[in-house]
Amino acid sequence: MARKKIIAGNWKMNMTPSQAVALVKELEPLVKNDAVDVVYCVPAVDIVPVVEAVKGSNVQVGAENMYFEDKGAYTGETSAEMLVDAGVKYVIIGHSERRDYFKEDDELLNKKVKKAFEAGLTPILCCGESLEQREMGVTMDWIRLQIKSDLKDITADQVKELVIAYEPIWAIGTGKTATTEQAEEVCKGIRDCIAEIYDAATADAVRIQYGGSVNAGNASELFAQPDIDGGLVGGASLKADFGNIVNY
Ligand code: 13P
Repeated sequence: MARKKIIAGNWKMNMTPSQAVALVKELEPLVKNDAVDVVYCVPAVDIVPVVEAVKGSNVQVGAENMYFEDKGAYTGETSAEMLVDAGVKYVIIGHSERRDYFKEDDELLNKKVKKAFEAGLTPILCCGESLEQREMGVTMDWIRLQIKSDLKDITADQVKELVIAYEPIWAIGTGKTATTEQAEEVCKGIRDCIAEIYDAATADAVRIQYGGSVNAGNASELFAQPDIDGGLVGGASLKADFGNIVNY
């Protein structure tokens, strides 16, 4: 089965609402490509204006985070229902920056994945190893543990809709991309892990992105790999260059 590539920008903590709208307008003619899914994952405060600004285009909007509770006294958090009502389709869950700086653990992330699916959002579930883990040779053990914990009680039908982003922490924002071989090896390892937990059809359907210093120069080689179904792009998603990545 041919999986549709998904190329998502993760804007992180960049772009005020007015800057966000200006960027969407600048990128609009550059990111036209119906052969791939194009997603902008934007800061919470940018969601409403960006949803408005992408109307009528091929771009869909994602959030960078959400909370798993339905509503209530959780100051500062955003619920899945709020995101859906605002027009959001995707939500990044478990980015390494959230795991590291905000101490999000697998138990919490599993709750977020469950809630996202329940609300009709597509999670972009992130996983990846530190440089130390890679050097110790435990990359795949670590990622398998993340995947298994984060997907506890998630059904095969849900996983078929899921997007997994493999982001080696040492390649994020460093300009140091994983080699194509390293990226493909882990993305294939993730697919094998899904086949083990679920079945071959589920593994064949799940989309797996690579993220970490993706740019217009390395995107085409990375996305040509059999197990890499697109990218989660940080820094380069904030520039006109993102158009070249989408049209790799
Ligand atoms: P960079 O593309 O800036 O390395 O960021 C990758 C990333 O963290 C995307 O989620």
